[in-house]
Amino acid sequence: AQTSVTIKNDESAPVINRNIYGHFAEHLGRCIYGGLYVGEDSEIPNTDGVRNDLIEALKNLQIPILRWPGGCFADTYHWKDGIGPKEDRPTIVNQWWGGVTEDNSFGTHNFLNLCEVLGAEPYLAANIGSGTVKEFADWIQYVNHDGESPMANLRKEYGREKPWGVKYWGVGNEMWGCGGNMTPEYYANLYRQYATFMTSWDNETGLYRIASGANVDDYHWTEVLMRDVPHQLIEGVALHSYSFVEWGDKGDAVDFNESQYFSTMQTALKMEELVTKHSEIMDKYDPKGEIDLIVDEWGGWYNVQEGTNPGFLYQQNTMRDAMIAGVSLNIFNNHSKRVKMANLAQTVNVLQAVALTDGAKMILTPTYHVMEMYKVHQDAQLLPVDFDSPKYEFEGESLPAVSVSASKDSKGVVHISAVNIDAKNENEVEFDLSGFDIDDFIAEILVSEELQDHNTFDEPEKITPVAFKDFKFKKGTLKITLPPFSVVVLESK
Ligand code: AHR
Repeated sequence: AQTSVTIKNDESAPVINRNIYGHFAEHLGRCIYGGLYVGEDSEIPNTDGVRNDLIEALKNLQIPILRWPGGCFADTYHWKDGIGPKEDRPTIVNQWWGGVTEDNSFGTHNFLNLCEVLGAEPYLAANIGSGTVKEFADWIQYVNHDGESPMANLRKEYGREKPWGVKYWGVGNEMWGCGGNMTPEYYANLYRQYATFMTSWDNETGLYRIASGANVDDYHWTEVLMRDVPHQLIEGVALHSYSFVEWGDKGDAVDFNESQYFSTMQTALKMEELVTKHSEIMDKYDPKGEIDLIVDEWGGWYNVQEGTNPGFLYQQNTMRDAMIAGVSLNIFNNHSKRVKMANLAQTVNVLQAVALTDGAKMILTPTYHVMEMYKVHQDAQLLPVDFDSPKYEFEGESLPAVSVSASKDSKGVVHISAVNIDAKNENEVEFDLSGFDIDDFIAEILVSEELQDHNTFDEPEKITPVAFKDFKFKKGTLKITLPPFSVVVLESK
C-alpha cells in the first residue's frame, strides 16, 4: 500500500526531551546482580563492579536518565542497607522478586557513580509503601546536601565528599498495586505529606518530583492526582503500560505466531490512546502544561514463565521487540508536548532489555539498535507529521501499519523514523518535505528475515542496522519502500 505523509516545519512544536530515551534498572532477576553489576573482584572487566562492555554500550546510546532501584522493589528497599563498608551491609531478601537474597553490595554510591560515568541523570524511586517520611528525607539529604548535616557527614565518612545532586525522584511506585494497594485519594494525601518534606538542599538542581501514576488506562487515578495534589508539589505524573501478552506456554518468547505478534502490536499501539487520554485529563487541570506525563515503564512483557521464578522476567528480544520500540518511541516523540520522559523496562536481562549477558559474554538486542538509531531525536525539535496510515490486516482485524516521527536538530538536520509493522506486506511512503531546504538523505534500516530472529551469543550481529538505499528524493518529495517489519531512520544532507 501507499501513503503520503506531510512533515511540517513548525517552529512552535516542542523539543523532544532527551529523557524520552530513558532506561530503568531494577533489583529483579539478573538485571543488577549478575547483569549490570558483576562485582569489583570479577574477572569480567568492570568499573567499580559494573561491566565495562555494558557501560560502553549505554554510553553509545547516550542514555539520558536511569531509574533505580525499582519497580516494586523500590517500596521494599531501605537505602541505608546499601551504604558503608560492604562487609557490614545486611543481606536482605528480595520479597517481590523470587525471595532471593541480596548482599546489598550494589547501593546508592554504586548507582550514582555509575550514572556519572554514563553521563546520565539518576532517577531514584523512593520507598513510600513500607518506608517512612524521615527515611526518604534522609536519602535526599544524603545525596544532595553540601555542607554539615547528619546525612552529608555520613556520606563523607563513606567516601563521597561532594553531593551528587539528584534531581529526579519517584514518590513510590505503583501505589495502586505492589506499592501498597492504595486508592488514588489515599495516595494523593500521602504524596502531599511526603512531598512536603522533600527538601532540595542544592538550589541549583532543584527537585523533580514524580508521583506514582496510573496503571495503563486507569484514568481515574490521573484525574484524582491532578485534582488533589497541589501543583506546586509535583513536576511529573507517571504512567506504566507494558505490551503485555499472555504467551500461555513456557519458553523464551521466540516461538510465536502471527496472531501473537498481532496482539503484541495491538497493545503496543494502544500507547497512543493512553498517552492522548491521560494528557487530556492533565490538560483539564493544568492547561499551561506545567506538569509532565512520565512513561515510567514501558516495553514488551510476555508471560512465558509461571511466576517470576526461575525466569525472573528474562525473555528473548527479537525483531518483534524492535517493532514495539520503534512505534513506542514514535508515539512518545509525537506527544512530546506533554510526555517528557519514558523509561524502557529493563536495561539488562529483564523484559525488553537492550543487552543480554551470559557470564563474560554480552549481546545487544534488536531493541538496542532501535534506541541507537533513534538517539538522533534527543533534544531535537519535533516536526509534526500528518497522514493516514495504511492498514495491517490480520484475521478480520486491522492496525495502522506505518508509524512515523520526525525532528530537526540544532544544526538543522532532519531525521525521520519510519516503522512498518505489517508482517507480510511492504509499504510505500511518500513524504512531503516542501517546507525544508534538503539536498538528499542517507538512511539505515533494521530488518530481518523472520520476526522471530534475534541476536545470540553465537551470532551476536544477526540483527544490526545496515545502510538503506530503497528511497528516492527529488524536489522536496521523499519516497521510500518499507519492507515488512522494518525500522528505518533517514537523515537529511
Ligand atoms: O518491571 C517489572 C515490574 O513491572 C516493576 O517492578 C513494576 O513497577 C511493574 O509492575
